[in-house]
Amino acid sequence: MELKIPRHIAIIMDGNGRWARRRGMPRIMGHYRGAEVAEEIARACMDIGVEYLTLFAFSTENWNRPREEVDLLFDLLRDYLKNKREDLKNLGIRLRFIGRRDRISRDLKSLMEDLEAYTSDNNRLTVILAVDYGGRDDIVRAVRSVIRNGLKTVDEETFRSYLDLGDVPDPDLLIRTAGEKRISNFILWNLAYTELYFSELCWPEFTKEELLRAIEDFSRRRRKFGRVLDE
Ligand code: FPP
Repeated sequence: MELKIPRHIAIIMDGNGRWARRRGMPRIMGHYRGAEVAEEIARACMDIGVEYLTLFAFSTENWNRPREEVDLLFDLLRDYLKNKREDLKNLGIRLRFIGRRDRISRDLKSLMEDLEAYTSDNNRLTVILAVDYGGRDDIVRAVRSVIRNGLKTVDEETFRSYLDLGDVPDPDLLIRTAGEKRISNFILWNLAYTELYFSELCWPEFTKEELLRAIEDFSRRRRKFGRVLDE
């Protein structure tokens, strides 16, 4: 079968905690392994010619987790960004972030900005990390920008440009792991016509093979975008 390679893949990386607890390890170990898997999948996406990979790393609701887990998740992100600065640059990965910026510590925020600038000329794969991101929050922030800019009215195209992914094509394929079948306030606007794939694997056990299974499945779908297709 001929594979149709999605231009943009979005992933809800679920099941880190469950994976770790099942092995009698602290939940954070699942997140550590999850970060490694994220890197493997980014490399796989690069190999097969995906242009954009959007990963849900921390949601606006994740602040409600125990303080210790939240702190450790941000430590993980901070260490990761520091350690991978050169790798990302050399691999040709452009790194971008979406989400709120007002609740993140100042040092992490400047690290994020530094990496965005440092990798901005890269064009093999754009990895978009959603950090303190919520789909509803994205829409509300867009509305606020519209008002701030004094617009009297907007159409879909103009409104889209105010969203965090305003300049990025909509995801063709959304993958969610760990058997959960929800959108969980991810990029709501942009997922309007995205094909959904649910994997039973927890994120720490997700593989390139499973990614290819998702893409195979995607390749068999007939995307209609509300139209009638000829039989
Ligand atoms: C969901 O699993 C996962 C998260 C809330 C965090 C995802 C973050 C990472 C994989 C690390 C990302 C970091 C980099 C640098 C890419 P869960 O904790 O909700 O698992 P559970 O549903 O089994 O409890």
